[in-house]
Amino acid sequence: MSTSSKLTIDDKTLDFPVKHGSIGPDVYDISKLYAQSGAFTYDPGFTSTASCESKITYIDGDEGVLLYRGYPIEQLAEHGDFLETCYLLLYGELPSAAQKHAFVDNVTHHTMVHDQMNRFFLGFRRDAHPMAIMVASVGALSAFYHDSTDISDETQRMIAQIRMIAKMPTLAAMAYKYSIGQPFVYPKNDLDYASNFLRMCFAVPCEEYKVNPILARALDRIFTLHADHEQNASTSTVRLAGSSGANPFACIAAGIACLWGPAHGGANEAALKMLSEIGTPDNVAKYVAKAKDKNDPFRLMGFGHRVYKNYDPRARIMQKTTHEVLSELGIKDDPLLDVAIELEQIALKDDYFIEKKLYPNIDFYSGITLKAMGFPTSMFTVLFALARTVGWIAQWKEMIEDPSQKIGRPRQLYVGSPKRDYMPVSQRS
Ligand code: CMC
Repeated sequence: MSTSSKLTIDDKTLDFPVKHGSIGPDVYDISKLYAQSGAFTYDPGFTSTASCESKITYIDGDEGVLLYRGYPIEQLAEHGDFLETCYLLLYGELPSAAQKHAFVDNVTHHTMVHDQMNRFFLGFRRDAHPMAIMVASVGALSAFYHDSTDISDETQRMIAQIRMIAKMPTLAAMAYKYSIGQPFVYPKNDLDYASNFLRMCFAVPCEEYKVNPILARALDRIFTLHADHEQNASTSTVRLAGSSGANPFACIAAGIACLWGPAHGGANEAALKMLSEIGTPDNVAKYVAKAKDKNDPFRLMGFGHRVYKNYDPRARIMQKTTHEVLSELGIKDDPLLDVAIELEQIALKDDYFIEKKLYPNIDFYSGITLKAMGFPTSMFTVLFALARTVGWIAQWKEMIEDPSQKIGRPRQLYVGSPKRDYMPVSQRS
C-alpha cells in the first residue's frame, strides 16, 4: 500500500500523501497542490473529487452496493425500520432496545410544530408547489426555534437534529393539506412514524381514519431506502452551507432546494410524468429511440446514475415494494406499471443503455408506489426530502464535529476578459 504519490508538473516533482479508506478507492490528498505548484485541479461536477472523509454511507456503484454504517441496505430495509436507521446514521451503531425506545419517544414528542406556523402557511398561494413550501417552511424553522441554532453547543445541535426528523412529516403533510384546501391534521403520538404521516396526509377531522399497516410498512421502507446516499448534490449542498457556520434549519432548507431538481430528487415526479406521457407499452420503443437520439434532449427519467453503473440496489427493493402495495390495494392492472415494465425490459436489452451502463434507479419505481398510495406527483420529491433529512443531518453533524472542517470554497478556471479599464457611456460604441 503506497503512502504517497508523485506528480510531475513541468520540471517539478511533487509528493502527495495517498489516503486509504476502509473500503473503496484510495484518494490523493492534493490539498497542498496550489501552495506547491500554483495550479488548481479542474473537475466540473466533482466526478473525481472526494470532498470529505465520512464514516456514514458507502456506495460501490460498479457492484450495486449501498451500506449505511456498514450494513447493507437490503438488510436494513427488510429487517429494520426507519427510526432505527435514523439512529444508526446519526450515532454510528444500531440502538439497543432501551436506546431505541428513548429515541423513538424523543422523536415522537417533537412532532408538533409551533402553532404560529399555521399562519405562516397562509401566506402561500393555494396552488404553490409543496416543494416550494418545504424550502420556505424548513428555512423558517430557524425563526421559530432560536434555542437550537447555536451550532457550537452540542445539546442544541442534538435538539435541532431531533426536531428536524420529527417535524419534517408534519410540515410535509401540512404542505399537502394546504394544497388541497383541507384542514391540517395534528400528529398523533401513539402512531409510528410512517403511520402518523399517512394519517396527517389522508385523515380528515370529520371521519375516523384507520392506517393500513401494509402501506405504513411500505412507506417506512421507502423512507429507509432514501435515508442517505453519501456525497450527492443535496448532501454536498447541506455540507457546503453548513461549512460557513449557518444554522442547521437553514442548511437543510438549502438541501431541499437542491433536491428539487429533476436530475436529483425531482426525478421521481419526472419519471411518473414520463410514464403517463408514454401512455401505453406500444409507445415505449418510440421513447427509447428519443432517449438515444443525440439531437433530442429527452432522457429516460428514472434511468442512469452518477455513481451506480449497475442496477441501483434500492430500485430492486422498490420494485418489490411496488408490487406489494399494488396487490394490497387490489390494483391488478396499472397502466403505468405496464409501461414501466416494458420500458425496463426494452432499455435493459438495448446496446445504448448497456454500453453507457444506464440502469433503472430508485425513482423509476417509487413514483408508481406513491401514486398508488394516494400521493399526487407534486408530493413525491417532498417524501424524498422527508426521508433524506436524516442523511443530511447526519452528514452535517459529522462535518461540524470534524476538527479539520473548513469553509468549503472551490476555485475556478477564469476564462473571462483580462483586466480592462472602465469607459464612460458616452465613449462606448
Ligand atoms: N436517458 C438517456 N441517456 C442518458 C440518461 C438517461 N436517463 N442518463 C444518462 N444518459 C447518457 C448521457 O446522454 C450521456 O451520453 P453521452 O456519453 O453519449 O454524452 C451518458 O449517458 C452519461 O450521462 P451523464 O449525464 O454524463 O451522466 P451523469 O453521471 O452526469 O448523470 C444522471 C447522471 C442521474 C443526472 C443522468 O443519468 C440522468 O439525467 N438521469 C435521468 C434523471 C434521473 O433519473 N435522476 C435520478 C437519479 S437517482 C436519485 C438521486 O439520487 O437523486
